[in-house]
Amino acid sequence: MKMKLKSKNKFIPVNLPKIFKQEKIYVKKCLDTGWISSEGEYVKKFEKNFSKYNRRTYGIAVSSGTAALDIAVKSLNLKKGDEVIVPAFSIISTALCVTKLGLKPVLVDSNLNTWNMDAEQVIKKITNKTKAIIITHIYGFPVDMKKILKISKKKGIRIVEDAAEMIGQTYFGKRCGSFGDISVFSFYANKHITTGEGGMILTNSDKLYSKCKSLRNLCFGIGSNRFNHDDIGWNYRMTNLQAAVGCGQLKNIAWIIKRKREIGKRYISILSKCNKIHIQLSKLKYAQNIFWVFGVLLKKNTKISRDQIVNKLLKHNIQTRNFFLPMHKQRIFQEMKIFPKNTNLKNSEYLSTNGFYLPSGLGILNKEIDFVGKSLLKILGAKN
Ligand SMILES: Cc1ncc(COP(=O)(O)O)c(C=O)c1O
Repeated sequence: MKMKLKSKNKFIPVNLPKIFKQEKIYVKKCLDTGWISSEGEYVKKFEKNFSKYNRRTYGIAVSSGTAALDIAVKSLNLKKGDEVIVPAFSIISTALCVTKLGLKPVLVDSNLNTWNMDAEQVIKKITNKTKAIIITHIYGFPVDMKKILKISKKKGIRIVEDAAEMIGQTYFGKRCGSFGDISVFSFYANKHITTGEGGMILTNSDKLYSKCKSLRNLCFGIGSNRFNHDDIGWNYRMTNLQAAVGCGQLKNIAWIIKRKREIGKRYISILSKCNKIHIQLSKLKYAQNIFWVFGVLLKKNTKISRDQIVNKLLKHNIQTRNFFLPMHKQRIFQEMKIFPKNTNLKNSEYLSTNGFYLPSGLGILNKEIDFVGKSLLKILGAKN
């Protein structure tokens, strides 16, 4: 099909969130009653409903996914120099929460099929010093974590499961975020459900629950000792206003997941025949893709570069986002000499220089998906 690219089409942002009626009703109630800080019924309600949805005992609502990671790793009470295995290809928060505590992050390369941390390589990196593994699910599929969970249980290695991008996803039928000793989520505006900014920690452990609650709130002392703090904590509290939005969003989670899958499948139907790109698979034996975002990876033989493509798309008012920069390529970590200079993780590096994602927020219209997909084909010189 021939299509003329119009540069005057409406701007299509990489993410446009969807806000439902219920959120407005709940937020109005907070404003009308004055319950706007972290005290208030919606924080407790959101924690209860979100942990129930994910089949976990406790939820601790916090101010972001990064805050959730900070608290989760600190709650494990590891010692300086202990090793924590983390993916090379993820948001920097995943390694930051480890380095901040003087722990040693050990990087694992990605699997080029799923774009997730490679399970076999995780196992190879386990040593006597490994005390925790952060399992981070990226873009749409869970990490194939069966073997990792089995070995870590045997060796007493703690699992922090980062399900920020995986709200509502399952692994062999069980919710992502219910596998870790402690699990974290983000509710940033591009996540499956949003509170604007926000995050959640889930656990079944009484001990981790108490510690996380304390770390979220400056580790205040008890009773008359309130201002004599028990440990180094932070103010990572979520407001009642944010939680009100979260409660409304959570009511619509089934629709949200269905729509995200429709968006992914619509892109696949347009792009699957193009031999210049890899696109996300829709199904693996342990999960159906949840399409947090719709990622595109250039094949090795593609003549045009990722940066040329995203610039051309932008000229047509289509915003995209490049894939993550791997941890060992982060300037700040290089200056701090966190990873050996010769670190070579070629799959993460390939993803980082050749990958980007297309507009895939819940606010996108089908005709916009079609326009984006066909514009990309045209730029690649491929037929539809
Ligand atoms: C896998 C993953 N973990 C953690 C985070 C951090 O979440 P936040 O942006 O809410 O701090 C993100 C953010 O995008 C993420 O993608």
